[in-house]
Amino acid sequence: MLVDGQNYRTVWMDGTSVFFIDQNLLPFQFIIKKSASYGESCAVICKMQVRGAGAIGALAGFAMAQAAMEAPETGNSGFLDEARKIIESTRPTARNLFYAVEKVFAAAQISKSAAIESALEIADCDVADSKKIGEYGNTLLCSGMNVETHCNAGWLAFVDYGTALSPIYLAHQEGKNIFVYADETRPRSQGARLTAWELHHAGIPHSIIPDNAGAWLMSQGKIDLMIVGADRIAANGDVANKIGTLEKAIVANEFGVPFYVAAPVSTFDFSCPSGASIPIEERNEEEVLYQDGMTQDGRHERVLVCSPGSSALNPAFDVTPAKYITGIITEKGIIKPDLISIKNLQ
Ligand code: MRU
Repeated sequence: MLVDGQNYRTVWMDGTSVFFIDQNLLPFQFIIKKSASYGESCAVICKMQVRGAGAIGALAGFAMAQAAMEAPETGNSGFLDEARKIIESTRPTARNLFYAVEKVFAAAQISKSAAIESALEIADCDVADSKKIGEYGNTLLCSGMNVETHCNAGWLAFVDYGTALSPIYLAHQEGKNIFVYADETRPRSQGARLTAWELHHAGIPHSIIPDNAGAWLMSQGKIDLMIVGADRIAANGDVANKIGTLEKAIVANEFGVPFYVAAPVSTFDFSCPSGASIPIEERNEEEVLYQDGMTQDGRHERVLVCSPGSSALNPAFDVTPAKYITGIITEKGIIKPDLISIKNLQ
C-alpha cells in the first residue's frame, strides 16, 4: 500500500530481522521498527504494535522462522517446541496466528531455510488472497453506495490490501464513488485511528462514527452494505470478530442491510464446530479506562476517561451467528455461511 508515494507492507522479514509498522503510534506517527529475535517478535504481537488477523499471522510465522534460526544446530526439538508454545500464547483468537505457526513449525523440522521459505510464502499468500478478496468484494459495490465497516480490516490488519477494505480500494481505483462509515471501535479505536488513517491516505471519502451510531444510520436508510473482517470462522459459519460486530450484524438484519464478512480461507477453523468453541480474548481493563492521543502541541498523552476507582470489563471479540451473515467474501469467491465445507474452500 502506498504511504506518501512509497509502497509498504505492514510486516516483512529481511535476513534474520523482522520489520514492521508500529500501529500503536498511528495515526500520529508513521514509524518502521525492527525485531531481531523471536522473543522480540512475540512482544510486538502482545503489545499490539502489529495487530489484525493476517498481520499477526504473518508476524507469528516470521517469529517461528526466527526461532528456527536461533535454535541450536543439534537437538533443537525442545527449543522449537518451547518457541511454538510461546508464540502461540501471544494472542488467542485469530486463527491465522495458529495457521502460520503450525506451517512454519512443520517446515522447521526439515531445515532453517525451509522455515524461512514457509514464513515468506505465508506472507506472500496473505497479499495475494487479500487482493483476490478485493476483486470478489468489488462485484458487490456500485457507485454511490455508503458502506459501514467495523474495527480495522484494512491493509494494516494484513500484510497488504486488507480484507473488508480491499474491495473498497479497488472500487475507488475503478472510479466508483463509495462513501465509508468507519465505526470508531472502542476501546482501542482501530476504526477511528487506523481505518480512518488508511482511507484518508487512499483519498476515499469517509466519516468516523461513534460505535453507537450505526443502528440510527441504518434505520434512516443511510447504509447500503456492511463489510467486516474476521478473526476466526467456525465450521458452521459463525464468525468471531472485533467486539461490537455482533450488535452491528443484528441491527443490519433488522433493517435489511446486507452484512458481509471478508476473510481468507486461512481464517477458517474446521476444528471449531461452532462459534461456541472459539476462544475469546479478554484484554486489560486499562484499554477501556484510559485513552491515548495527541495534544495540540504534538505530545502523546494518555488520560483517564472513566470514573476513578471503577473497574472495566474488556472482551476483545464477539461471535456473530451465521444466520446474520449474508455472505463471506474469500479468495475463492463469495460463499453463503451455511455452505462452508472444506471441499468448497479448496
Ligand atoms: O484486536 P485486533 O485489533 O487485533 O482485532 C483484530 C481485528 O483487526 C479485527 O477484529 C478485524 O475486524 C478482523 S482481523 C482483520
